[in-house]
Amino acid sequence: MNKSICMDVANAKQEKQRILKWKALRRALIIAHNYQPEEIQELADYTGDSLELARLAAQTDAEVIACAGVIFMAESAKILSPQKTVLLPVPEAGCPLADTITAEDLRRARQQHPQAAVVVYVNSPAEVKALADVCCTSANAIAVVNAVPQAEVILAPDKNLADWVARHTEKRVIPWPGSCCTHNAVRLEAVEAARKAHPQASVLVHPECRPEVCARADAVLSTSQMLRQARADANLEFIIGTEIGLLYRLRKENPEKLFYPLSEGMVCASMKLTTLRHLGDALEFMPQKVEVPEEVRSRAFQALEAMLRIQ
Ligand code: 13P
Repeated sequence: MNKSICMDVANAKQEKQRILKWKALRRALIIAHNYQPEEIQELADYTGDSLELARLAAQTDAEVIACAGVIFMAESAKILSPQKTVLLPVPEAGCPLADTITAEDLRRARQQHPQAAVVVYVNSPAEVKALADVCCTSANAIAVVNAVPQAEVILAPDKNLADWVARHTEKRVIPWPGSCCTHNAVRLEAVEAARKAHPQASVLVHPECRPEVCARADAVLSTSQMLRQARADANLEFIIGTEIGLLYRLRKENPEKLFYPLSEGMVCASMKLTTLRHLGDALEFMPQKVEVPEEVRSRAFQALEAMLRIQ
């Protein structure tokens, strides 16, 4: 091993020890999204999709929740557990999809469609969740839309998710023009090329992918649903159409199976910002705790709670 690799290994070891020490001292729980860098997933108490992370945040007894992910995930944890200290290791780790909608925009849409229910995808700012009747994630969006009493539903802010849900419900879904730059960038040609390269593989894609990409997949699933599907499926090869961070856990949990990214370009820059040092600093110094103003939090809480009651 050369000298600089030895230094990196030694630094990583020190950082891990620091994280474990402060995690114990703070009685903290570390939760990480499935897209986080592998060394963060390795250290986390739980790794999951947005729905699982929200459930964990609502149920944990830990006094401190370190949420390795992006802003909307840490905000959801704070909304659900206001008495807890919630830490986001990289406070500027945003979600470009969440930035495609503001509370003002949604207020206007509500006025234009007063008869419609408002279902807000968790990839959104807290102020937008506060205006929702109910939130949803990629794992439960169809069930949530089916559960609201209204026949029309505004589903914001991801237009591809709205399209996917519209194909699986009797309701009229009013979409929002937002999208995730990582998922929306993948074109149908990428699916055709991947299928040609790996003709035996099952194609699993996330519902934030374009409608024509979803239509050509074998299954359209949230990240944790992909993990379950890969475990249960007798097939030995899979093409994975979501952020490449998920491949780490897929490969770890299924060493006998092969996983190919649908596109090497499926990288969410915000998710990759978290380092061991950020996590260590967040736990040791707690520099910026995640806060949500109470009048926003209490309304957003109702929308998230309504979702957790459905599924
Ligand atoms: P999941 O809830 O399926 O993990 O997706 C989260 C996300 O941010 C997708 O871009």
